[in-house]
Amino acid sequence: MLLPTNPELIRSADSHFPFRPHSSFWFVTGFDEPGAWALLKKDGGFTLFVLPKDPEREVWTGIRCGVEGAVERFGADSAFSVADFDTELPKLLAGVDTLYFEFGRHPEVEPNLTRLLNGMRSGRKAHLGPTSLVDPGSILFELRLHKTEDELALMRTGSTITEEAHVAAMRDVRPGMYEYEIQALVEYTFRRRGAWGWAYPSIVGGGVNACVLHYVRNDGVFGDEDLMLIDAGAEVDCYATDVTRTSPASGRFTPAQRDLYQLVLDAQLAAVEATKPGWTLDGMHDQVVRQMTQGLLDLGLLKGSLDEAIEEKTFRRYYMHRTSHWLGLDVHDVGRYLLGNGLGKPLAPGMVLTIEPGLYVSPHDEEAPEAFRGIGIRIEDDVLVTAEGHENLTGQIPKTIADIEALRG
Ligand code: GLY
Ligand code: MN
Ligand code: MN
Repeated sequence: MLLPTNPELIRSADSHFPFRPHSSFWFVTGFDEPGAWALLKKDGGFTLFVLPKDPEREVWTGIRCGVEGAVERFGADSAFSVADFDTELPKLLAGVDTLYFEFGRHPEVEPNLTRLLNGMRSGRKAHLGPTSLVDPGSILFELRLHKTEDELALMRTGSTITEEAHVAAMRDVRPGMYEYEIQALVEYTFRRRGAWGWAYPSIVGGGVNACVLHYVRNDGVFGDEDLMLIDAGAEVDCYATDVTRTSPASGRFTPAQRDLYQLVLDAQLAAVEATKPGWTLDGMHDQVVRQMTQGLLDLGLLKGSLDEAIEEKTFRRYYMHRTSHWLGLDVHDVGRYLLGNGLGKPLAPGMVLTIEPGLYVSPHDEEAPEAFRGIGIRIEDDVLVTAEGHENLTGQIPKTIADIEALRG
């Protein structure tokens, strides 16, 4: 199995984005320098290709682990400079029948790899190169989907840090503040508590901005009666937290906000409660859709019967995203959602997923009762499936109306 890490990416001119290792590479190696490759062989051989020591460059860009460090500190059986990749990789692959490599995901390095493989296929040494190329997902993504205790410890740390950030934001927001002031408070808390930063760009939306699902401008001002939707989570050692809370900038929900909020909360709590081995994310979504659609009918946001509203998918006007995704080294983590027969993959102990129902009433929706227009609400937790059922890793972050209002006294 051959795994490259991420390249360093230019942000502008000669400035780079902060480097983030490739998740699968990180999962297997724990090695955090750019430009590296790992090769794992069935016989146990573990080889790293790394940037070589270079005292002159290191003055500018920091100390490198180097080839010797890759063996001593990262447990590689052998290590080479990336400069020797083209000559050493074919030797390591000689006699290997099947190469696991995630083609299509590493466009920056694939041309070089295909050139090397092609070289191995030609000429008199043709029999020496791999004859099968296999996507490693079936093995590697299954491993990433089922968390170990060590991984869960990191995710619990992320949850604790994310809790502090969300609580600070809900407590400190006031009408008249800019969304970016709250974003700064959230991300300051992540970093101050030792997280690498955010796991995905923070969403801080006030009022109608909460209706934009991936709103990241964060430059609006909170009005007196605005809700604040924060979808933000810390990243700890590459592990993501993904939490949404929605709370009033003024500290008090309006009656319409209260009705809609309670509807989302009830659906979210019921979905968390029902989470256990054997259930599926499709089953969860169907349950959430049914419960929220009934609520939308009761509040006059939808018309007709429950079965019609579900059959015709009219609920999608207010609930247009799914309820859950896997969570781990990536916020929308790897792992299959469906089995080969097209049915949902059953939950099993060790899997971590989000549960994130929401309702979003466009400010321009003339069919919606006026009081609900421009309200956007999402409530999102990160839930671990256990043998007994589940553990909500982020459930301690306030989300009942009483708890949120109490935060402000
Ligand atoms: N923050 C992205 C998501 O909730 O899926
Ligand atoms: Mn999510
Ligand atoms: Mn989220």
